[in-house]
Amino acid sequence: MRRAVPDGLHFFARGALIAALVVVQASARTSGELESGQAFDERQSRGPGDVKEGYERADYRTRSRSLLERRGVKMDLIRLLEDPPLGLPPVPVPADNPPTRAKIELGRKLFFDRRLSINDTLSCAACHIPEQGFTNNELRTPVGVEGRSVLRNSPTLYNVAYQEHLFLDGREVSLENQVWQPITAHNEMAAPAIGYVIRKIGRMRDYDGMFEEAFDGRGPDIVTIGQALASYQRTLLAADSPFDRWYFGGRPDAVGEPVKRGFALFSGKAQCIVCHRVEADHALFVDHRFHNTGLGYEASARGKGPETTRVQLAPGVFTEIPRAAVDEVTRQRLPNDLGLYRVTESPGDRWKFRTQTLRNIALTAPYMHDGALDTLREAIDFYDRGGVPNELLSPLIRPLGLTEREKRDLEALLRALTGSNVPDIVADAFAAPIGDLSAEDPNWANENTLGY
Ligand code: HEC
Ligand code: HEC
Repeated sequence: MRRAVPDGLHFFARGALIAALVVVQASARTSGELESGQAFDERQSRGPGDVKEGYERADYRTRSRSLLERRGVKMDLIRLLEDPPLGLPPVPVPADNPPTRAKIELGRKLFFDRRLSINDTLSCAACHIPEQGFTNNELRTPVGVEGRSVLRNSPTLYNVAYQEHLFLDGREVSLENQVWQPITAHNEMAAPAIGYVIRKIGRMRDYDGMFEEAFDGRGPDIVTIGQALASYQRTLLAADSPFDRWYFGGRPDAVGEPVKRGFALFSGKAQCIVCHRVEADHALFVDHRFHNTGLGYEASARGKGPETTRVQLAPGVFTEIPRAAVDEVTRQRLPNDLGLYRVTESPGDRWKFRTQTLRNIALTAPYMHDGALDTLREAIDFYDRGGVPNELLSPLIRPLGLTEREKRDLEALLRALTGSNVPDIVADAFAAPIGDLSAEDPNWANENTLGY
């Protein structure tokens, strides 16, 4: 259902847009741990405190509970790292950053700390939301501080430990170094400099002694902050899915016939496996390479995009607002996304993006580097059409001629790739402390300044 909203409300719409973004960011908020003996309720891991089913209708009723009611259960993350769930190979770890409990604990605290952003609002978890597959299901491309637009879709952080190249264009290769990009990017956490963040963390009393304990007496610095965050992210290992139990665990009853037929298509007629690889004893569903499926080309060819954009103000209430108003909020026009070309500057690499993992794919909508595809069915239809033709299209992408039943079987396979231990990892994230501004913290908003 759609209601007309008069032009005069555009200003209000912008306010609502920003407010909505703040709500989305707030959704990463969690609270303390369960008292021992209390079981973790899996439903608590659904949605940002609110399931949002039917939100497009005016008769929508929230089922949201107080965010403070959401409890977590801490888990022994280092054990997960040392003994990854069925279907995953041993985790590669850099020689100079061996994992320890203290580093992981510290990295987890940093990951959920909003004070790492310039205005103390945005943590890593605001865009990599634990209960949304460590991505963001609600936005094609997430928003940074003050509602600034981000070019690409948030990738899941599940199993990121195995990526040989980070980011969809592969521009970074180390998890330890990667963290400084979102922290300092103007349109993400917008910290003005690395040194600013180091000094700020150094003045937060709740970190007293934590770095020194984790790093042999060494305080927060450009290396230790990166090593701690990387150590936490390496533990986000989600596998032992129904597919793994069947394919690697030798349990014929772990999946139904549609999944088995789906895998026959995946590795046969549809040839997905050429890029989303499955090895003899494990599967990452990636080839660590870059391919042009045509989506990036299509977005570039569309040029500026539509003049207006649709914004939801309340249940059942939508309005179109001019793109110019959004651009004004974001204070930037996003460039065309040329993918790998931005790293190599080789014309043949235009619109090539890194193969994404398909593990936990049912949890990580929307799909592709720009979140252009909303559902798994749309992704399957996209491949069935042969992507978007362009002069640089990968020769491996071509029309597949799938029948309706074959499409359903492929989707059944993709839905069987969700790790059985996901609820445990989410519960652990809910148990993490949230770094929020307090009166003791160095900040422009209270008297305790950063020392400028
Ligand atoms: C404003 C939203 C936002 C915030 C905040 C954010 N990220 Fe991201 N993250 C993204 C997006 C979008 C990408 C993909 C960017 C690209 O490919 O160019 C990404 C990519 C990544 C990747 C690479 C994943 C891959 O598969 O290549 C890692 C790792 C990561 N982020 C970790 C972090 C950490 C750690 C923090 C906090 C220090 C953080 N992110 C904060 C949005 C965000
Ligand atoms: C030529 C290599 C190639 C083949 C073949 C291929 N893919 Fe992909 N796949 C990719 C790349 C590259 C991406 C990332 C594209 C992007 O981000 O724009 C991707 C992304 C996806 C995504 C979205 C992942 C996410 O997290 O957003 C899904 C779902 C997917 N592929 C499913 C399939 C299926 C099903 C098949 C077989 C019908 C298939 N792929 C065949 C390379 C391939």
